[in-house]
Amino acid sequence: MRLVIVSNRVTIPDRHEKVMAGGLAVALREALEQRGGLWFGWSGAVSEGAPAPVRQVEHGNVTYAVTDLSEAERQSYYLGFSNRALWPLMHYRLGLTEFQRSDYMGYLGVNRRFARALAGLIKPDDMIWIHDYHLIPLAAELRRRGVTNRIGYFHHIPWPAAEIMGVLPFSATLIRTMAAYDLVGMQTEVDARNLIDGLVSLCGARSDGRRVRLGPRETTVRAFPIGIDVEGFRRLAAASARQATTPLRATRESLGQRKLVIGVDRLDYSKGIVQRLEAFGEFLRDHPEERGRVSLLQIAPPSRSDVPEYADLDRQSDEVAGRLNAQLGEFDWTPIRVVKKAYSRKALAGFYRRAQVGLVTPMRDGMNLVAKEYIAAQDPADPGVLVLSRFAGAAQQMSEALIVNPFDSHEVAEAIRTALAMPKTERIRRFEKLYAIIAATDIDWWTRQYLLALSGEAGAAEALAV
Ligand code: F6P
Repeated sequence: MRLVIVSNRVTIPDRHEKVMAGGLAVALREALEQRGGLWFGWSGAVSEGAPAPVRQVEHGNVTYAVTDLSEAERQSYYLGFSNRALWPLMHYRLGLTEFQRSDYMGYLGVNRRFARALAGLIKPDDMIWIHDYHLIPLAAELRRRGVTNRIGYFHHIPWPAAEIMGVLPFSATLIRTMAAYDLVGMQTEVDARNLIDGLVSLCGARSDGRRVRLGPRETTVRAFPIGIDVEGFRRLAAASARQATTPLRATRESLGQRKLVIGVDRLDYSKGIVQRLEAFGEFLRDHPEERGRVSLLQIAPPSRSDVPEYADLDRQSDEVAGRLNAQLGEFDWTPIRVVKKAYSRKALAGFYRRAQVGLVTPMRDGMNLVAKEYIAAQDPADPGVLVLSRFAGAAQQMSEALIVNPFDSHEVAEAIRTALAMPKTERIRRFEKLYAIIAATDIDWWTRQYLLALSGEAGAAEALAV
């Protein structure tokens, strides 16, 4: 069966690209290249003259089919409903959730247009795999056009409790469209449970464990925690340490013998960057003997800068880093370096390997692939320590990390201290357990498990052991 992947943003590979750490794009490209197929979605560009045509580009065994959005569509579907309503709501940030009826209409309009274009590209045997919150109603729109193929959905971000989802106007109508999928994949069991509860309590569905019945359709909802290419990333990190890339060499030279704590995130309020900087400041205030011995490198490429809450975060992170550096720094030591740009995966792998502590402290996160990349990049003979938020989906699997509550700056500060002081034998013990779990549930495992379950192969759905 040919695989058709649909995601909001599609990046056609080119030789000069810089790829951001983690995220949907990296994971999906790896999955599709292994088996070939079609990848459909937004080109990332805006053009007028609706409806924008679909352009097709062949790249290896993958066909990329992309369409532009109009500026009105970008505003309503992408910036508005997806990123000012669904994103904050699904990350439990009710105070930041902005609902506009016109944005919701734009969201439905783009899903309808995508369905129209996609229906003309799919073949009867294709298996369709739709990704993420931008495209929740896409299967329902495809079904309305008579598409009977197996259609799956994977939700990369948290799915909140029904009480929270119920705050969204039209939430029952939106959630109901989930019943058009044959298989819905979530990052964690909690997310899967939350969706089932929402379908039952808000839409009147009946559920029998993981299976949900709504009208004539039956949908399976279950957890498939996403992974990374662990072996590939490990090799990249080892190579990067041998032939230090320019940014890594410069970092080594400027740090000297100092220890390094690293954070790598899109500049997004869900990632807890400001809270992390404050916690690092608290650590330095509580443990003055550590001053001058360690620096925090926060890599934070800007994201969704047209959304006001992201522009606020951009300013706020500069202010906090500036204040802490002014209060705590010395003429020859800058405690915090915030770098707002993207690095190649090779450079990132090198940074992770150089860092004694990986600080991954989102306030809420679907999975968080940086946590897995940090572990994959470590030197097994002298590994660093992962400090991980209990509100990242990754914490469900990675219990040998130092698990913290990112809302408690004192707890995070103490975890940084514990991590920096941890004896090598203890670091190796934790690393080996963490590496084993991320290797056993890598990107290949994730794709295989999901696609086996979507294809409906007997027993596949039960083969999952997390
Ligand atoms: O999983 C969250 C997500 O929205 C992905 O779909 C996407 O790759 C990433 O965040 C970056 O977001 P954006 O496409 O809005 O820049």
